[in-house]
Amino acid sequence: MKEFKRTLVTAALPYANGGVHIGHLAGVYVPADIYTRYLRLQGRPVLFVCGSDEHGVPITIRARKEGITPQQVVDRYHNIIKKSFAEFGISFDIYSRTTSETHRQTASEFFRTLYEKGEFVEQESEQYYDEEAKTFLADRYITGECPHCHNPQAYGDQCEKCGRDLSPTELINPKSAISGSAPVLKKTKHWFLPLDKHQSWLSQWILSDHKEWRSNVYGQCKSWLDMDLHPRAVTRDLDWGIPVPVEGAEGKVLYVWFDAPIGYISNTREILPDTWQTWWKDQETRLVHFIGKDNIVFHCIVFPAMLKAEGSYILPDNVPANEFLNLEDDKISTSRGWAVWLDEYLCEFPGKQDVLRYVLTANAPETKDNNFTWRDFQARNNNELVAVYGNFVNRALVLTHKYYEGRVPAMGCLTEMDQAVIAEFQGVKAELERLLENFRFRDAQKEAMNLARIGNKYLADSEPWKVVKTDPERVKTILNLSLQLVANLSIAFEPFLPFSSQRLRTMLGMTSVEWNRLGEINLLEEGKQLAKPELLFEKIEDSAVEAQVQKLQDMKAKSEVAAWKPEPVKADIAFEDFEKLDIRTAEVTACEKVKKADKLLCLTLNDGTDTPRTIVSGIAQHYKPEELIGKTICFIANLPPRKLRGIESQGMVLSVQNPDGTLSVITTDRKAQTGSPVV
Ligand code: MF3
Ligand code: ZN
Repeated sequence: MKEFKRTLVTAALPYANGGVHIGHLAGVYVPADIYTRYLRLQGRPVLFVCGSDEHGVPITIRARKEGITPQQVVDRYHNIIKKSFAEFGISFDIYSRTTSETHRQTASEFFRTLYEKGEFVEQESEQYYDEEAKTFLADRYITGECPHCHNPQAYGDQCEKCGRDLSPTELINPKSAISGSAPVLKKTKHWFLPLDKHQSWLSQWILSDHKEWRSNVYGQCKSWLDMDLHPRAVTRDLDWGIPVPVEGAEGKVLYVWFDAPIGYISNTREILPDTWQTWWKDQETRLVHFIGKDNIVFHCIVFPAMLKAEGSYILPDNVPANEFLNLEDDKISTSRGWAVWLDEYLCEFPGKQDVLRYVLTANAPETKDNNFTWRDFQARNNNELVAVYGNFVNRALVLTHKYYEGRVPAMGCLTEMDQAVIAEFQGVKAELERLLENFRFRDAQKEAMNLARIGNKYLADSEPWKVVKTDPERVKTILNLSLQLVANLSIAFEPFLPFSSQRLRTMLGMTSVEWNRLGEINLLEEGKQLAKPELLFEKIEDSAVEAQVQKLQDMKAKSEVAAWKPEPVKADIAFEDFEKLDIRTAEVTACEKVKKADKLLCLTLNDGTDTPRTIVSGIAQHYKPEELIGKTICFIANLPPRKLRGIESQGMVLSVQNPDGTLSVITTDRKAQTGSPVV
């Protein structure tokens, strides 16, 4: 493998229109941080850059919805995002933003260079234009009837009812979401990056020269390249973004996916105004992009094509993209309220950043989608962090305080058992390096935890608390070795659990952390005074995780209600058809559950006749029998009787079906005569 002088690590720039959730952390930022911390620990030159992605249509939509400016939207979220990353120890060298002046300048220059080199093709096309608002309309800003399922609320890029991709011109009766008027087609000019011209070197570069990329990344690139690449527009008609820096482009901005990756360059330039070019243009720099799988095409095909077209930049050496993290067996969805937000997590689990980092790495979606559950979170905390790592550290430290007033005892003769443990420790550094170099963070963290297991087992097997009665000299060696192992753990876990490692080092009085000494057994010198031990991790109770699951369910229900829209009205019917329905009132005189059926209640009704009427209704999950007794309800009287669970049901009770799936039985407002018609 080629030796590089320095590594430039980038993490996908998050959109500044929402906070950070566990999916972001697991997919991009924790792995990127582990990798960067590891390189720094080794003393290798590394720069870790990121920032907020602050352009694009969704931000303008959000601003419009909230009645504020796009700038206000991104200001708010930029700060929230930046704070969350800092709180979770994501150790960027810079976290900037794409609305910065440096970025505007860098992206404009980049565009100009390509423009002047003739790397773009200009093309006119017809696009929808809002004549009232005097603006071209982004696809999302046009609504109309879906040509496939006739949903009247489809968007110009997609119908959310049938899920099909659309183009705005396919919509029936298109409407502008800005003014509500019918848009007209108008000619507009755009600049395209002719990816087709880059196809051949891209194929060679990825498919032949980078066979070592993760199979999910390689596979996605291959299927793009197999399909043939087409020119992509890099400009848009929009009033939010970086103005296209050429004449005749008034009212146009750079497409957000053109400017955002240049943000990596701008951020480097912002932190290293004099030397940034070394990080981007010297062949001895290794560029690594950490991203989620939805960003693969942009980082492996589009951005490299931009860099190549510019001519003076290096290309990424690797793009370790992750798959997606699901939450409690369901896709994370911010609009459906199905997410765990970092700021909320920290309010509820203060100080437990490392627990989340640990669990997200243990379940990292490195090769396939993976799942986060609160039960697993609890189990990994209680059975691994507390019972293995924390327990070992605590026992070693507490015993040292108990027997030697917290001073590191002298190491004596080593037994065979000691030698075996030392041998296992010595192999760990090389193994961790092999895994980390290959972006296998899950396995690497497992390896670190395995060290703690070895230590834990060593203490259990050597039983210093027993040996102390018969052979006190021997106990010194056991505890010295145990403490050395603890010190090793603080190094091995540093890239993964930086907060706990720091606390552990404070307890051990270690002032520095030297990766190169990992595996050594003389990290703590004899006689060294240790600080009072504290627990590194604490147990998480059932009630805490149950509350989290409940909270998710509540948020989902709430967002379903908020997103609810009434169904489109059904086709007209004749008035006579309505008159055929015989709807009446009746008083519920008795009501009970139907045996062996969770959903059914059996109602006895007084419908004004001499014979009681029985109706079986599927409302048992929404009403207790006694809630209904005495109420006047509405029912359909002229449906043919039906047998349900052996009971003849004579009609149907009318209920309202709410967006969250609950049912509300229809009762009368004022006192009503039982058996009267509903008209
Ligand atoms: N904001 C994009 C997303 O969240 C990622 C942009 S990455 C960059 O999907 F390369 F464009 F910066
Ligand atoms: Zn549709």
